[in-house]
Amino acid sequence: MARVIAIANQKGGVGKTTTTISLGAALREIGARVLLVDMDSQGALSIALGIHRVKKTVYDVLRDVELGMEDIIIPTGTKCDLAPSNIHLAGAEVELINEPGREFILKGKLASVNKMYDYILLDCPPSLGVLTLNAFTAAGEVLIPVQSHYLAFRGMQLLLTTISKVRGRLNPSLEVLGILPTFYDKRTRHSKEVAEQLREHYGDTVINISIPATIKFADTTTAGESILTFSSSSPAAAAYRKLAREVHNGKANKRVQTPR
Ligand SMILES: Nc1ncnc2c1ncn2[C@@H]1O[C@H](COP(=O)(O)OP(=O)(O)O)[C@@H](O)[C@H]1O
Ligand SMILES: [Mg+2]
Repeated sequence: MARVIAIANQKGGVGKTTTTISLGAALREIGARVLLVDMDSQGALSIALGIHRVKKTVYDVLRDVELGMEDIIIPTGTKCDLAPSNIHLAGAEVELINEPGREFILKGKLASVNKMYDYILLDCPPSLGVLTLNAFTAAGEVLIPVQSHYLAFRGMQLLLTTISKVRGRLNPSLEVLGILPTFYDKRTRHSKEVAEQLREHYGDTVINISIPATIKFADTTTAGESILTFSSSSPAAAAYRKLAREVHNGKANKRVQTPR
């Protein structure tokens, strides 16, 4: 059975999509079978992987009882499989409102592909709407990328409270895999201070690996590949490799039950 990890933060631009691709590619490098699911109607994950035109997307799977996740999965250049999305998924937020058991649809759809993968990474949209709730209900763990910036704290409590509520109402086994500091600039005191403050507030939930800030990520996006192949020996690639090993060996997983 796959470990299903939701990569979430209702703030945009914190590195969710980048983490989905890079962690996925790094897990793939150590031999794991990986499916990436694009839950964002911006389709940034699909586009970053060079997938522009697809017939069927996650939207169709969520809307059509007959359609399975396996019907839309496509291979990508990163050797991870992808369940793609496009702008149609934006409609799902509204359309699913009247659907019975709306938070459980993704979980049901992943059941048929669960055995085919070791990891299923869910790239969440920048909101806590029904799509993110579907991801939290289907996932066993949540990975939370945060920018190493003072604004990192904004919205974190709301996110942790939402996870808590999901645990109580929709998915009792949901755990926080960790908070992952991204855009870390080791030359600035600012980044260090934010990391320290994060640790003061959230303790061991903060993963002991920071993803460095580098322009290389922006360049990978147009190349349709991950940082692991695009800039294999960069510190950023090393950081995601380290993260993959810790996730795989269970070290990053603090099994936090109640966020403070
Ligand atoms: N560690 C990083 N350093 C520099 N740029 C980054 C880093 N992580 C992501 N980016 C860039 O920042 C932008 C937003 O990242 P993205 O992963 O799309 O965030 P999100 O999915 O949370 O909206 C993208 O252009 C991406 O290439
Ligand atoms: Mg994104």
